[in-house]
Parts: sequence; structure tokens; C-alpha cells
Amino acid sequence: MSEPKILLLGAPGAGKGTQSSNITDHYDVEHVTTGDALRANKDMQTEHGTPREYMDAGELVPDPVVNEIVEAALGDADGFVLDGYPRNLSQAEYLSDIADLDLVALLDVSKEELVDRLTGRRMDPETGDIYHTEFNMPDEEEVRDRLVQRDDDTEETVRERLRVFEENTQPVIDHYEETGDLVRIDGEQTPDEVWSDLKAEIEDAA
Ligand code: AP5
Repeated sequence: MSEPKILLLGAPGAGKGTQSSNITDHYDVEHVTTGDALRANKDMQTEHGTPREYMDAGELVPDPVVNEIVEAALGDADGFVLDGYPRNLSQAEYLSDIADLDLVALLDVSKEELVDRLTGRRMDPETGDIYHTEFNMPDEEEVRDRLVQRDDDTEETVRERLRVFEENTQPVIDHYEETGDLVRIDGEQTPDEVWSDLKAEIEDAA
């Protein structure tokens, strides 16, 4: 398959960003991520307030703001990996009107593992690379010194994000399971093992 259209689902911290980067490197497709798009526009004024007000509390940004971002991004892309959207059934319905998907994959990870992954996550602001204080730190001291923690990766906000995921996004997963489109990947393996399983599913969907 040359330009696959992939939807990557998973709870906060399931590894969507980590695996999206493998997909974009391997298949040369766009990474469409509502989280990054919103973080880049956190203080943008909308009729619903700023994204920051929702994100720093771990809540969902209102659908009209997010739908517009996704529609604009997908309109320009031949192939893509969509990460962080849809997060509720109304967004899933919107998506079905604007895109055809080749694969819907869920990265399955238990809740306690998710809390550990997110509270230990660190980002390199220069490259966007993702690290973890316990599982994966960069070798270069210069890179280690400049790593930052995301505003919403504190334990309290992480637990609220997981609650919001259970309430709003679990029904999206149930929906794709009912339509028979969902492929489950064991997200508790090492990042390389998860990538190997995911790549096999992408090739199968070709
Ligand atoms: P968003 O940025 O989408 O965050 P998220 O879905 O909560 O997921 P994350 O990016 O935090 O986790 P990830 O699955 O990408 O994990 P990662 O690969 O980094 O959303 C943030 C906020 O924006 C939302 O709360 C909401 O307010 C708003 N928003 C976004 N989209 C929205 C929408 N559609 N509607 C409304 N509001 C929206 O991995 C995590 C850590 O684990 C890393 O440290 C990594 O190194 C490590 N790791 C990864 N894989 C493994 C592995 N296999 N083994 C061990 N460690 C691993």
C-alpha cells in the first residue's frame, strides 16, 4: 500500500504519538493530530473560549473547534495517520462524512500503565521526540537537559483525562468494534513489538 489512511485509537498514553511517528517515517503520510494542533493554538480565541481552558483541565475541546481542524488537515492529505480524533461519537459521525479509512487500530494498554507512562513522559522541544524518565531517556546530556513535561501530564490531570476517555471515547471504540472495523493491538509490548504488529495490520489492510 503506498498511501494508507489509518485511524489510531487508544487512551491517553497508549503510544499513539510514538507509533504515529513510525507510520509517518515508514509510509511518508501526514500525521494529523488534534492534540498537537490544539497545543500550537492553545491561546486562540474562539466563541467557546481558548483551547487552554479545556486542555489544562483534561477536558475535551468543543467539537466545532476540533472538527474544523481535522477537516482542513485531511482535505490536503492523500494518506494519513489520524491520532487523537475522534474522541466522542459525534466526532466519529463527522469523520465518517469526510474520510474513508483503510484501518482502524486500537492500542490496548491497562490504566495503571497509562498513568506511569504519562507522568514520566518528557518531550524534546527542538525535535518533538518523545522520551520517558524510566523507560527511554536520550544518551546526550544536552538533549536530556532540555526535555520538558507537558502541562497536562501531572498525575491529577492525567487521571481526569483517563476518566474523560472512559466516558467519551470508549463508546467510539465500541462503535468501531460493532461495525467490525476495529483491530486490537497489544500496546503493552515494547515500542518495537507494537510497531511490528501494527505494520503487519497495515500491510494486511492493503
Ligand atoms: P492529545 O495530545 O491527543 O493527548 P492524548 O490522546 O491524551 O494522548 P497522548 O498524546 O498524551 O498519548 P499518546 O497515546 O500519544 O502516548 P505517547 O506515544 O506520547 O490530547 C491532549 C488534549 O487535547 C486532550 O486532553 C483534549 O483536551 C484536547 N484534544 C485533543 N484531541 C481532541 C479532540 N478530538 N476533541 C476534543 N479535545 C481534544 O506515549 C506516552 C509515554 O509512554 C511516552 O513517554 C512514551 O515514551 C511511552 N511509551 C510509548 N509506547 C510505549 C511502550 N510500548 N512501552 C513503554 N513506554 C511507551
